[in-house]
Amino acid sequence: MTTILIATRNAHKVGEIRAILGDGFNFLTLADFVGSPNVVEDANTFEGNARKKAEDIARWLGQTEEAMRNMQVQYILADDSGLEVDALDGAPGVNSARYAALDAGTPGNSSDADNNAKLLRVLADVPGPRRSARFRCVIALSEATKGGSALETHIFQGACEGRIGFELQGRDGFGYDPLFYPQGSEKSFAILPRAIKNEISHRGQALGRLKQFFKQRARQ
Ligand code: IMP
Repeated sequence: MTTILIATRNAHKVGEIRAILGDGFNFLTLADFVGSPNVVEDANTFEGNARKKAEDIARWLGQTEEAMRNMQVQYILADDSGLEVDALDGAPGVNSARYAALDAGTPGNSSDADNNAKLLRVLADVPGPRRSARFRCVIALSEATKGGSALETHIFQGACEGRIGFELQGRDGFGYDPLFYPQGSEKSFAILPRAIKNEISHRGQALGRLKQFFKQRARQ
């Protein structure tokens, strides 16, 4: 079975990635690796951040203790994702997790509640037809190598078009889910059943491409 280390500390993302990839993989997370570095997401693209997260962890793993390598990680998977709102010229984009914190000038991420409140506030005067948006997800998959050198990283992308609502709807999911209505739906991502979100979401699409990659590898 293929062993993948999911290099994120976001439990919601881990849950979705595991549900979408399903059986056939053995999953580890950063919680299994005490002392793993906290990667600073300072690239200005989703791809740059996803690649950085996967490759920094792959390098660290390659140089770390024998016992850790013995966990037989074959791939390191990182997800960088976010929301692009057309009326805001693509914001919050790569700043999605720290959107509200940007104003306060405080380092680190802000709570989902604060980010959603800010988004509603800045869009207060924007009418329905101009509230188009999309979620984007970039998955970087690095191959674990001894010593962490000569890293090979594969990139998979997904986007889900939709619009931003006028108030929070639903309690499931995470992040901007209660404000995001995928195209053609009257229900937000926080109301739609998990299986439906995972089928149509940005993350579902990117991971669908990753699954194809593994299928092709298995045939070679
Ligand atoms: P990062 O990839 O860790 O930089 O964080 C991505 C941020 O984008 C999250 O903290 C959420 O605010 C938002 N986001 C990404 N994917 C989703 C999703 O599927 N639903 C809701 N919000 C998301």
